[in-house]
Amino acid sequence: MKSENINTEFLDGVLNGSHEDFYYHFGTSSSDTMLEPLRDVRAVIMAGSGERINEFAQTWSDLNGGSAIIAFPKEDRFVTRYTAGVLFASHGMGMPSASIAVQEVLRMVYFLKGGDLDAIDEVFWARVGTSGGVGQPGGTVVVSTEGLMADLKPYRLMQGGRGTYWFDGTFPAATREAILRANERSGIPLVSGRTIATHEFFLEQFRLDGALRLETAETKQDFLNWLRENDVANIEMEGAMLAAYLNWWGFSSFAMICAVLLDRLEGDQVTSTPQQLHQYGVDSGTVLFNYLSARLL
Ligand code: URA
Repeated sequence: MKSENINTEFLDGVLNGSHEDFYYHFGTSSSDTMLEPLRDVRAVIMAGSGERINEFAQTWSDLNGGSAIIAFPKEDRFVTRYTAGVLFASHGMGMPSASIAVQEVLRMVYFLKGGDLDAIDEVFWARVGTSGGVGQPGGTVVVSTEGLMADLKPYRLMQGGRGTYWFDGTFPAATREAILRANERSGIPLVSGRTIATHEFFLEQFRLDGALRLETAETKQDFLNWLRENDVANIEMEGAMLAAYLNWWGFSSFAMICAVLLDRLEGDQVTSTPQQLHQYGVDSGTVLFNYLSARLL
């Protein structure tokens, strides 16, 4: 872990009792006894939707002999469940929303592990989501090699007159390879490749079906071809930030696993049937649980 990149000034004050930490968007705090059982947390799994978090927690509980599921009380922003060593938390859509969830869960993990950097590093993180494919048909599951923004540059933040902070969007290769190995016999079409995260579902993803439109069929095709030539497999809205923040702290094991809903070379609208969408979600969950079972059980 990169202790110099961790806000120990604030976080250690929570540990030594000089102040409490309010995980406001999760409706809990460092003095809440509800968090006690979470000290054994070994993985944090995030997904955009609260419904998926519920399903994931139920699946993991079933795989663990019906382990008790702890539900966080506040659900107006994020839905959070804990069972059998895994914290499942939704993050909403897009990097502004997801960055709030990631920051608060990072603070929580630091607190739960008493600031022990080795114990913190043992926690595995993953986002399991949906995406648009670049030359990948609906139903493919992409395990990302790198999270970049729409210009193929890493995540960065504008800090006004103080300049631009750049981050590293690499996903650890060893974790990705272990996920692929754990799923060798799953029969699920799995690929790995770069993933871009955009700030906008329509405009930055070069869709022509938004209420606003900036592109033509030709510029859209040029963009998607350029992504393809640069080994981009899929497009979503959170991964560049997730990899950036986890690398900033120095985690050694994290991943992003995304189902492809449609091949963007073929169109813009998501026209899959509810049954297909359900199957895509089940498959990306299976990829996660095959790895989690190999790692944790
Ligand atoms: N999520 C995205 O961000 N884009 C898509 O095309 C599909 C899912």
